[in-house]
Amino acid sequence: MPTSFTVNGKDVTVDADPDTPLLWVLRDELKLTGTKFGCGIAQCGACTVLLDGQTRRSCVTPLSTLEGARVETIEEVTGPEAEAVKAAWVDINVPQCGYCQSGQVMSATALLQVIPKPTDEEIDNAMAGNICRCATYARIRKAIRQASDSLEA
Ligand code: FES
Ligand code: FES
Repeated sequence: MPTSFTVNGKDVTVDADPDTPLLWVLRDELKLTGTKFGCGIAQCGACTVLLDGQTRRSCVTPLSTLEGARVETIEEVTGPEAEAVKAAWVDINVPQCGYCQSGQVMSATALLQVIPKPTDEEIDNAMAGNICRCATYARIRKAIRQASDSLEA
């Protein structure tokens, strides 16, 4: 049975196996390849998207749960927090290989939407599920602080 939801503000209807993870719906059906596959078992955060405004591991989110949902991905995530995060990421040159970074940006955006002025501990807690094999953690923290400051200005 087709499932209808929105992705980055656009209506989509997908007719695929209801068990298909959102990650593969995004990448294979909708050709939105910015969301990455890392582990497939909700352990690395590479596949993080926003689902109804909350971070969600798309690799373990079946299509069957998405009817009426609002999905945001790295391709078009927008709003003051997302723009501040993206600007800080570029300014500080956060990525190394880049593979984990769309997930990092989505998690950082979600954090600032809920906690505009996070403490270091709150940053670490919010970002703990996003693994970076290149260990860009210090730059990620710095960029989140810079984004937070820019929102306050
Ligand atoms: S690919 Fe989804 S958490 Fe690793
Ligand atoms: S930048 Fe390479 S895994 Fe994070």
